[in-house]
Amino acid sequence: MSLHIILFGPPGSGKGTQSEKLVEEFNFLHISTGVLLREQIEQQTPLGIEAKKYMNNGKLVPDEVVINMVKNLLHQHPNTPGFLYDGFPRTIQQGQALDSMLKAMNTAIHLFLALDVNNETLIQRLLKRGKELNRQDDVNEQIIRTRIAEYKEKTEIIKEYYHNKAVSIPAQESIDVVYKKVKSAINQTINA
Ligand code: AP5
Repeated sequence: MSLHIILFGPPGSGKGTQSEKLVEEFNFLHISTGVLLREQIEQQTPLGIEAKKYMNNGKLVPDEVVINMVKNLLHQHPNTPGFLYDGFPRTIQQGQALDSMLKAMNTAIHLFLALDVNNETLIQRLLKRGKELNRQDDVNEQIIRTRIAEYKEKTEIIKEYYHNKAVSIPAQESIDVVYKKVKSAINQTINA
């Protein structure tokens, strides 16, 4: 049976960073809708051209776009030990769509890991990355603040939606310290 784990948190909370380590250790399939959308932008597909308008302004891309991306991936990897959702779901509609897809596969979300980091740390981390890498949504503090506002307005509520699966992880400390807590929560789920 494959595990289904949501790695949740605001922009800059460390979802992508922790996912990389989990994929290496547990061989999970990493489903990052942000990564998938940036691939579409790089390939200049019609979907990418449309998504770029939202992403570069710090706004969420329409639900149906990301839901279809995830749906396609779920059916392509029947033998993976687990699916790690990073940056998805981001609205209640996306959560409901994911639950229906999993129900149709006779499974459900096993664990919802919420990374908690304060706003000032998020902004500092993302501005730092903006100086190091070419991510258009990291270069400008106003866009970063819009991303955090979108999270507060549309995404944060998902933690309540999955409250019976949720584990909060204080994620202000170093990458390795946070990873120990993330790994421990996953091992508890595996051994339950
Ligand atoms: P997405 O790519 O998902 O970006 P995000 O949520 O804004 O998240 P980030 O990648 O910026 O942060 P993260 O939590 O992964 O942190 P990371 O590990 O990278 O989405 C981008 C855009 O795509 C959205 O704004 C939206 O437009 C669109 N989109 C994507 N999914 C969507 C969806 N489902 N629905 C609608 N629209 C969607 O770390 C950030 C930085 O901090 C790195 O430099 C890292 O090295 C550093 N760092 C991480 N952890 C630590 C630590 N513990 N200590 C110090 N530094 C750390």
